[in-house]
Amino acid sequence: MPLSIRKLTSRIGAVVEGVDLAGRPDPSTITALRDALNAHKAIVFDDVNLDNAGQERVAGWFGDLTTAHPNVPAVDGTTNVLAVDSETSKANEWHTDVTFVLNPPQLTTLRSVVTTPYGGETLIANAGAAYRDLPEPLRALADSLRVVHTNRYDYARPTATTTQRQEYDRVFVSTPYETEHPLVRVHPLTGERGLFIGGFAKRIVGLSNSESAELLRILQAYVTRPENILRWTWSPGQLLIFDNRITQHYAVDNYDDHPRRLNRVTVAGDVPAGTDGRRSEQLLGDASHYSKVLEVAA
Ligand SMILES: [Fe+2]
Repeated sequence: MPLSIRKLTSRIGAVVEGVDLAGRPDPSTITALRDALNAHKAIVFDDVNLDNAGQERVAGWFGDLTTAHPNVPAVDGTTNVLAVDSETSKANEWHTDVTFVLNPPQLTTLRSVVTTPYGGETLIANAGAAYRDLPEPLRALADSLRVVHTNRYDYARPTATTTQRQEYDRVFVSTPYETEHPLVRVHPLTGERGLFIGGFAKRIVGLSNSESAELLRILQAYVTRPENILRWTWSPGQLLIFDNRITQHYAVDNYDDHPRRLNRVTVAGDVPAGTDGRRSEQLLGDASHYSKVLEVAA
């Protein structure tokens, strides 16, 4: 079957068919998938029937893997698989994965293991479209700003109600990290600009906490406009890959107490650069045990 790419919405998302994920990919297939990621930001494969090792292998088509998480241990028997499990965390807040380190993952892969009888969708937002939607004066302001991201976080969340979830949160923040990133990130492969904020973005450099919160709220509203969002409803045995450099995501908590489990494997990323070429700087912590730095040509 030839490779086919079917758009899911005008701004984000595509279903990919005709790729044998169990086989060895040829370079032209990987190029086509990378092009699809650049164009659509999130791609989905149906009926993949991968196990953890298979998910790691497919993620590895796109680069070196990170370990599971800077602070959270991997799923037993793996080094690269993080359990995204409703028993430990519901992830129902907008975020980009692991932006509190110097080089957050370039790609996130999510594989459905246990799906819910209703709800449990993953929302993925196109942060490049959000940037282009900004009125020009706000775009110019955003271009000039830097933001501190941290996992030191107010985890007084309504969903952390069980002991298991509170323990997960404790481990998540156990070693603190802080990184200063450009607010507008230039995608290293496409040159596309995107808002680089999300749930770990805590403070805009040079602004007070309340000014930061106000401005982040205004900018974030552009990311989460319905037109910029793919709402993916899971079935078992699917693989979703999104470009973590230019998206945010959110797990909708609308499935009551049903169990929900996705396994996550991420691909090591580059150090972000802003519109002036200035790179991110780690302010606190060293996450080199978590991820290699992907070098990309300037
Ligand atoms: Fe996430």
